[in-house]
Amino acid sequence: MDKSTGRYYVYIIQCKDGTLYTGYTNDLAHRLKMHNSGQGAKYTRGRGPVKLLYQKAFKSSSQALKTEWKIKRLSRKDKLALLDQAWKGSAVQKGHREKTDKNLTRDWFNRWSNEYDQSLGRIGFHRGLLDLVVRQAKVRDGDRVLDIGCGTGLLSLKILRAADCSVTGVDISEEMMSLFKDKIGKLGLSTRVSLQQMDAAALKFADNSFDLVVSSVTLHHLKDKIPAFRNIHRILKPGGRFVIGEIDMDTSGKHTDSNRLKRILKALEQEWIPALADAGIETFVKMFDNGKKHILNQGEYCASLEQWAGYCHTAGFGKTIIKKVPGYKIFGIVVARANKK
Ligand SMILES: C[S@@+](CC[C@H](N)C(=O)[O-])C[C@H]1O[C@@H](n2cnc3c(N)ncnc32)[C@H](O)[C@@H]1O
Repeated sequence: MDKSTGRYYVYIIQCKDGTLYTGYTNDLAHRLKMHNSGQGAKYTRGRGPVKLLYQKAFKSSSQALKTEWKIKRLSRKDKLALLDQAWKGSAVQKGHREKTDKNLTRDWFNRWSNEYDQSLGRIGFHRGLLDLVVRQAKVRDGDRVLDIGCGTGLLSLKILRAADCSVTGVDISEEMMSLFKDKIGKLGLSTRVSLQQMDAAALKFADNSFDLVVSSVTLHHLKDKIPAFRNIHRILKPGGRFVIGEIDMDTSGKHTDSNRLKRILKALEQEWIPALADAGIETFVKMFDNGKKHILNQGEYCASLEQWAGYCHTAGFGKTIIKKVPGYKIFGIVVARANKK
């Protein structure tokens, strides 16, 4: 029994390959250590590191064992539903966590991280978007580049291949960045990349730090874009470039406006169909589920490319260029220049 609380625990962990394992323990911290050292259970051996997704404490071992048995019999889909329920409960009802957009988004990406490269990373529009960002970023040898919402590093790695530059990656999800960190180690890029957990809404860098700021499918998580863009303008060198890769989807307006809903659904259809075709049913389900957050603006505040360009102008940027990803009407980029002396 956990001596500090007198409790028994049922837990669910996610293995490195994305599979879920349910267990029972009277010492959670020790048990997780055991799983990570390959001695926790036959199933988790070779599947580490594991990530704790769920824990429930019980006063008696028989209650805990009964619950473990029930959860073990659930399908993966039902286990994920249980996790969502528990997560909502802890985030919203019980007040254990602050219910902020940032926390909702970070939890979402922390839970998606192990599957990210095999899901969104496999969809044609995402690869096309990253390639377009890199082409238009026109990165040069020696450039100092900031990648906002670097995630697992899919964009940063393309930038690093395009020129002999250095990249600073920032993200709020420690799990997404830890996958990027592994890649940096394996590719021997540690002298060219540095990572920091940081909120895009509060970037802490000195004035004129970067030649280029890039960001793909991240900035729509910010509700208040203008102050964040003013800050990006501040940390760019004079004439520096800001390249935003985003979904072209205006989600502004009242949630009760049916024309707004039609507009969003029309755009989402163009995201969901390639998601199903290119990356399969699980990715489609994930994107479909995420669609609700776009519709209700729950941590997702997408804008049209024209709106993105407008935010740049308001924040002090000069000329902007808009380009669409070839073959995908609702994905594109905005390039803006820092207009300062
Ligand atoms: C869809 S992923 C994109 C990752 C990468 N740029 C790519 O294109 O593959 C969005 C990323 O933005 C990060 N993110 C979301 N909100 C953020 C915020 N406020 N500050 C920093 N990163 C954020 C998420 O954690 C996630 O890694």
